[in-house]
Amino acid sequence: MPVAVVVGTQWGDEGKAKIIDLLAGTHSHVVRYQGGHNAGHTVVVGDQRYALQLVPSGVLYGHVTPVIGNGVVVDMPTLFNEIDVLEGRGVSCSRLKVSSLAQLIFPWHQAFDAVAENGRGDAKIGTTLKGIGPAYADKALRIGIRAGDVRDLNRFEKLVRERATAALAMLKSVGGESFDIEEVVARFVVLAQRLVPYIANTVDMLHDAIEANKSVLLEGAQATFLDIDHGTYPFVTSSNPTAGGACAGTGIGPRYITRVVGIAKAYTTRVGAGPYPTELHGALGDAIVDIGHEFGTVTGRRRRPGWLDLVMLRHAVRLNSLTEIALTKLDVLDTFDTIQLGIGYTLNGKKIAGYPDDIELLGRVEAEYVELKGWKTNLRECRTFESMPLAARTFVETVERHVGVPVTMIGVGPERDDCVIR
Ligand code: GDP
Ligand code: IMO
Ligand code: MG
Repeated sequence: MPVAVVVGTQWGDEGKAKIIDLLAGTHSHVVRYQGGHNAGHTVVVGDQRYALQLVPSGVLYGHVTPVIGNGVVVDMPTLFNEIDVLEGRGVSCSRLKVSSLAQLIFPWHQAFDAVAENGRGDAKIGTTLKGIGPAYADKALRIGIRAGDVRDLNRFEKLVRERATAALAMLKSVGGESFDIEEVVARFVVLAQRLVPYIANTVDMLHDAIEANKSVLLEGAQATFLDIDHGTYPFVTSSNPTAGGACAGTGIGPRYITRVVGIAKAYTTRVGAGPYPTELHGALGDAIVDIGHEFGTVTGRRRRPGWLDLVMLRHAVRLNSLTEIALTKLDVLDTFDTIQLGIGYTLNGKKIAGYPDDIELLGRVEAEYVELKGWKTNLRECRTFESMPLAARTFVETVERHVGVPVTMIGVGPERDDCVIR
């Protein structure tokens, strides 16, 4: 059975969770493959709104096995809080599995995140301060503690005490926030006990599922241009959201992946710092933020608005081998008289080819636009492409023509069913 990947094509918050929830209806497993609780994934079903950070977006279906893959960094307090909130609302998380190979986040990772950000002065990345970067750094340094380590609580306790002691000494030397070692050890041993039943060899589990003809969906958090290799480094996250990361982050080789769905918002947003050629300042940007409710789920920060950038999207098609695009939040543009689409970059008046591999240069390019007529119609009730107004169809077809892959889904509202499927 083929495996599908869902990946953000911009700087996050494209509406990945809504599309994953929709696709999960026909999948047996939904697997997060990277990132951690820096993600904020919203699913709306009827009058119920669910905000997820670590639990995969397929959790709302009884038939789905949600899996936290080996590429994820897991903050246990957040995970259990999320599980408690979901179960309190009648959503069972008993099928949830956490990879034994996933890395765990500890309070010192959050403290180091703050130290690193403070040390950057005016050049802050604007991280979520969740400890994501430091946790991945420990993984790379091969001093991380993994989820599977909770299976031997005595060993886990020893590991936590060792790491806490070393981290505290380092934090003290850099003026970071202090913590009580024994308090953290005691608290995390309790959390670890609770994690034990969720731990699984998810690599074998997923391969068994594939061999049994089950359909597996791999859920990316963050997005292509927050990718540590391909994004706007250093203004990126510390993992590989691009589709290749789905293989490393789950233990499923590329041969099984036949569908890669890129999620693109009909405009762009970015939280945190970094270059942004199609950024909008002023009233138009404010209108997008207001109508699109563009405030972070996790940090509440205002997202920086801008027009859809087809140079980025074309590059995202390449970086992820996208087979298709889901274009979300098209309804947010319903009231606009005209809509711009970024189609190229110029530098000092000269056209440049492709997406620059130099962030300083990216900060200086100017976007070139094509202007389209707005449709001035409420799209929310549309369920077929044919029923959409001509100007909205032209918008979608212009995107397809510039990026070379079909737009197979179009978001026309936040709810599960608010979608045109072509
Ligand atoms: P994610 O991080 O990519 O999963 O996206 P977020 O959940 O952080 O942000 C997307 C927001 O847009 C959420 O509040 C969704 O409920 C909402 N949303 C998703 N798709 C649509 C859509 O097609 N139209 C509208 N109006 N809202 C949408
Ligand atoms: P979802 O999955 C938007 C951004 C942060 C910051 C940078 C690094 O909801 O799309 P980090 O805490 O990861 O070290 O921060 O990445 N960022 C996101 N922006 N959506 C997200 O997740 C993000 N996760 C991280 O704002 O600029
Ligand atoms: Mg989000």
